[in-house]
Amino acid sequence: MEAGDRVRVEKGKAVYEGVLMPSPTGSLVVKLDSGYNVGVRPGEARVTLLSKGRPPSSAPPPARPDPNHPAEDVHSRGRASSPAAPREGLPQVSILSTGGTIASRVDYRTGAVTSQFTAEELRQSIPELEEVARVRAEQVYSILSENMTPQHWVELAQRVAREIEGGARGVVVAHGTDTMAYTASALSLLLETPAPVVLVGSQRSSDRPSSDAALNALGAVRVALADLGEVVAVMHDGMSDEVCAIHRGTRVRKMHTSRRDAFHTIGGEPLGWVEPRSGRIELSPGRRPRGGDLKMRGPLEPRVGLVKFVPGAHPDLLESYRGMRGLVVEGTGLGHVSSSWIAPLAELSRGGMVVVMVSQCLEGRVCDRVYDTGRDLLKAGVVEGEDMLPETAVVKLMWSLGRAKSPEEARALFRQNIAGEYTETSRA
Ligand code: DGL
Repeated sequence: MEAGDRVRVEKGKAVYEGVLMPSPTGSLVVKLDSGYNVGVRPGEARVTLLSKGRPPSSAPPPARPDPNHPAEDVHSRGRASSPAAPREGLPQVSILSTGGTIASRVDYRTGAVTSQFTAEELRQSIPELEEVARVRAEQVYSILSENMTPQHWVELAQRVAREIEGGARGVVVAHGTDTMAYTASALSLLLETPAPVVLVGSQRSSDRPSSDAALNALGAVRVALADLGEVVAVMHDGMSDEVCAIHRGTRVRKMHTSRRDAFHTIGGEPLGWVEPRSGRIELSPGRRPRGGDLKMRGPLEPRVGLVKFVPGAHPDLLESYRGMRGLVVEGTGLGHVSSSWIAPLAELSRGGMVVVMVSQCLEGRVCDRVYDTGRDLLKAGVVEGEDMLPETAVVKLMWSLGRAKSPEEARALFRQNIAGEYTETSRA
């Protein structure tokens, strides 16, 4: 038996059927039809060969999952389908891929996770796209999003700008979900855009029947054609397989490790919703509509840290941030740290570091005028981050420091609302 073979594994009363995967640990790893893997130690289970493996397939399931056909059949159906040629006269949408689950696929023969992202592949996996747009696809990076850096954000903003200048009606950025919110904030601040810039990812890879990859991608392409002039994230919403939410790039957050509806707008409602299959789109009047000039607003200063205050945290912890140009502090409640942190923060601030306070509550606004420790923080030069999300505040501080010539100027820039990163009034 070898990787790629279809096997039955019997262990006690449990019986599994699936595809044998390569395993460096010596355990038997079987990918079930549900997409989940089970591992058993050799000798502890009876393994029977059901059929020899077939050649690798690179065609993922279509956007409309067919409940009558499990994942294994979907692959052979996808391979057989011959995609239609792109229709003339449709608007162009550029899809830039950076990697992550949405751009990954498990090769059932070798078990390797590969990232392929050609326009041809997209047409095969999402035939509905042919009706909607002329897709130009390009793989900009092939990385997991935990490997993104501020340098990638700046390059990506430049790549997006080039697509808009080149005539794209909208740009979709396929991205890993883990750090999508940081990239969404960075693109929101770096680009003043006349067209939609839509981040999209997926929580479940396209080889799983419950995958959200194709639905999200189709929704993202539809939103890329909508009346929007800002950076948004389009991700699966609710329990059905019908709707994706459109989140403002500076207000979105991944709130669950594995659920498909993990992405939420914090501190308000999403900017809208899209039904990817029907194409129905609902947009909030509070969005920025299409139009205006394309502008790049860089650069970024990467030397910014984020520290979370916990009860009893020793102030020496702050020493490790010395040398950074900016520090975001996630305080408790309205924006507090213990009294022992105030003198060291004041000293860092006097030394030229811009220190910003945001709240661990995520929902609601920082207000340091209520309690003594808060007032002392303000005297220490700490800037209130309003109701900005901690991740957004980090990127905003990088952006403010990158553009400013002095800490004072950076503080003033940080207080300006550039891309809806804070709301004018927080929900009670
Ligand atoms: N670590 C993840 C990332 O790239 C891969 C999974 C995902 O795309 O959600 O963010």
